[in-house]
Amino acid sequence: MDEILKQAIIAAGQEHLLRFIDNLSAGELAQFTEELAAIDWAQIPALSAEYVLKRPDIAIPADLAPAEFFPLKPADAAMQKLYCDADAKGVELLKNGKVCCLTVAGGQGTRLGFDGPKGTYPIGPVSDLSLFGYFAGSIARTSEKYGSQIDWYIMTSPINRAATEAFFREKNFFGLPQDSVFFFTQGTMPAFGTDGKLLMSSKNSLALSPDGHGGTLLALRKSGALDKMLAKGVEYISYFQVDNPLVPVADPRFIGLSALENAEMSAIMLSKTNSREKLGNFCVSGGRTMIIEYSDLPDELAEKRNADGSLAFVAGSPAIHVLSVGFVEKLTSGGTLRLPWHRADKKIACLDENGELFTPSEPNGVKLESFIFDALPLAAKVMILEGDRAEVFAPTKNATGVDSAESCRVMITERNARRLQAAGVEIPLTSEGKVDAVIQLAPERVLDEADAAELVKITGLKKILAGQVVAL
Ligand code: UD1
Repeated sequence: MDEILKQAIIAAGQEHLLRFIDNLSAGELAQFTEELAAIDWAQIPALSAEYVLKRPDIAIPADLAPAEFFPLKPADAAMQKLYCDADAKGVELLKNGKVCCLTVAGGQGTRLGFDGPKGTYPIGPVSDLSLFGYFAGSIARTSEKYGSQIDWYIMTSPINRAATEAFFREKNFFGLPQDSVFFFTQGTMPAFGTDGKLLMSSKNSLALSPDGHGGTLLALRKSGALDKMLAKGVEYISYFQVDNPLVPVADPRFIGLSALENAEMSAIMLSKTNSREKLGNFCVSGGRTMIIEYSDLPDELAEKRNADGSLAFVAGSPAIHVLSVGFVEKLTSGGTLRLPWHRADKKIACLDENGELFTPSEPNGVKLESFIFDALPLAAKVMILEGDRAEVFAPTKNATGVDSAESCRVMITERNARRLQAAGVEIPLTSEGKVDAVIQLAPERVLDEADAAELVKITGLKKILAGQVVAL
């Protein structure tokens, strides 16, 4: 191993990483050297001191206030006109191929308890249609509607890249043109033990984990995805998470309003259902928009009320954004980007002092992640638009209960029921007023109410019976 690299590792206080190198094969050593050479050793001591050896203070600015947003329904005639103009602008951008989609799918999805890339999770209420299948169908229909194929960028981690691509091949890219789907891989960060020493997953590898969805920005540049967007004349990135099958993959109003407002980064907001709902909170401080994560918002702010009793910090984030390509280019020029790190205490399988692999039952280490929404304060202009929760947000985070696969499937059925009902179909209800059926509509056929009406016309569907399972 290169002496300069060794010295950098020792100077960073991480000499323990070298204790097995004399026993490695040439191949193992080469692999380990490559991994170690990719680490910025100069910053390790500071990261360890700042985020690991002490708990980083979550700096809540004294002037923190709720962020303003455009309401779902326009407040006056001027706003009504603006929304109409935004719709037209969004449609124009979509028709002219100025918009691409981006799904962040590099997370490990541990809470769902599913072994495999989260996007491959079967979420269809009737069939086993996957989360990726939902997005693919919606992208296909949006492209068809506006007469221009929308490119889809999917960020994976090094851990789930191969499995994700294999799934797309197995599903024949869900009928999308293969050359419209691009995979790129996010970066990794080494995990620390609570003593500030980096953990090893084997004698020739560090315990590495995905660097958070903040890693998207730099990964876009490093992978060549950004160049591809620029070469194709794409101006806006419609960004969403892998866990929300209801997401409008490219909403004309949201994209159009971002463009008309000259926003470098935009966001959809939803009114929180309760003060502690697990959503990031839209705030402003010093004229800058920011998201304070649910776990970081102090109780007194989370509980703060307006005179009418409503939550002061009511705006929650479903993690749906539009980023201008120019903004990503600007942020990552020079090939670097420093977003703040966030600490997560985790159970991390690693080698013990004797070089034996050990799987802890309690958190034994620290992972550092950066968050894409920490780019909001860096944007010259931010636009926030209220979304219609039941229409756009059904997160699949847990196996059961709140924000689960179960609740998500119910919300898919309910949205489909609303659309069919609007098209004149009779929907059965339980005594509590819930939809008494299971309904799946193919996303490549039904993107909105107009599509549902067309489907009803074609199929002649008039009524769904109580307890019926329907897939159209
Ligand atoms: C996230 C947001 C929260 C928002 C909520 C809405 C964070 C920290 N918080 O919470 O503000 O209100 O969603 O549902 O994101 N991912 C990667 N690479 C990584 C880590 C994550 O691609 O290294 C992707 C995941 O695949 C997923 C998304 O980012 O698509 C969100 O990650 P997750 O950890 O599930 O965030 P939440 O805590 O659910």
